[in-house]
Amino acid sequence: MHVNGTHYRTVWLGTEPGTVRIIDQRKLPFAFEIEDLRSVDEVATAIRDMHVRGAGCIGATAGYGMYLAALEASAGGDFDEIVNRRAVQLIATRPTAVNLRWAVDRQLAAMSGTSWAGEKLDIAESTARAIADEDAEACRAIGEHGLEIIRNLHAAKAEGEPVNILTHCNAGWLAFVDHGSATSPIYAAHAAGIPVHVWVDETRPRNQGARLTAWELGQEGVPHTVIADNVGGHLMQHGRVDLVITGTDRTTWTGDVANKIGTYLKALAARDNQVPFYVALPSSTFDWEIENGVRQIPIEERGGEEVSHLSGFHDESGEEREVRLTPDGSVTANFAFDVTPARLVTGLITERGICEASGNSVRRMYPERFE
Ligand code: MRU
Repeated sequence: MHVNGTHYRTVWLGTEPGTVRIIDQRKLPFAFEIEDLRSVDEVATAIRDMHVRGAGCIGATAGYGMYLAALEASAGGDFDEIVNRRAVQLIATRPTAVNLRWAVDRQLAAMSGTSWAGEKLDIAESTARAIADEDAEACRAIGEHGLEIIRNLHAAKAEGEPVNILTHCNAGWLAFVDHGSATSPIYAAHAAGIPVHVWVDETRPRNQGARLTAWELGQEGVPHTVIADNVGGHLMQHGRVDLVITGTDRTTWTGDVANKIGTYLKALAARDNQVPFYVALPSSTFDWEIENGVRQIPIEERGGEEVSHLSGFHDESGEEREVRLTPDGSVTANFAFDVTPARLVTGLITERGICEASGNSVRRMYPERFE
């Protein structure tokens, strides 16, 4: 997508050999900075400390990280021992988004096809590029399929009225390689001339909605309003939300969805108010091995300082500042994700089309996964 009119992906290979380039998302929306990563340690830090975040983006970054692991291994030592150790290191950085493990496993499987180190390195590079390209293409296709939902809602609205869409967190292009998942249908509708307006949940504690989703929608000229996290239910009760679309960090093959903390409450409010609640995802976000999201999806717990403190940029000095919110001595807890059961999800928007959030429907969409 575009930053000041220039097209960017979130992660790519630099022209200098062995350099992975990322947009440092910690600085947005106040500064747009590119960071170069030159080792697996740097990639692991960038994922763990959320210089990059979002399921597809950390998957693609880990794919490039495995290319750096292969580069390190091809300089000497036991190739397989090194890449396997680096794989474990990368997978351990963040537990919930399954794209991370999926990308690392795909790299290991691809490299296992040959015993020659030079060829393994070539395979690791081409696989990293393929993971990123496929992520971008899947998100583009999600936009095409999701566009039909927005088109139908628009057809039922009064002349000139925008379709009001609520989204939570950032499942935008910053969370992937390009386009985004939840935002892709929105960008497609905007490009097709359908008037849309997005309610952007701020998404405490890290405020990915207020900082990232609002910024990227603004860069693409999509009308939006940032709201506090607890506003959505009120808006739905008053007919001001036509559709909810969120992303997901891991989805069971039965349709349970783990997404940023607070998503479950939006799904409950949507059900109570008969607002359609869709979840957009590329197939790399399915976990084909588990069927009960609440019981089986690991939920990341992050440091309490993300809850006790707020950070932002000071208007006058332009400096980043952190301020405390909670009294000294108050204990904090920081659960980063929650699980929305399939029964609350109207449908899954995938790169192959839209299906119900149920094992049978997912099986019909991806039959090869069940052979
Ligand atoms: O903690 P994050 O920012 O990596 O969380 C990921 C998310 O942004 C959301 O949960 C998102 O909606 C799904 S990721 C495509």
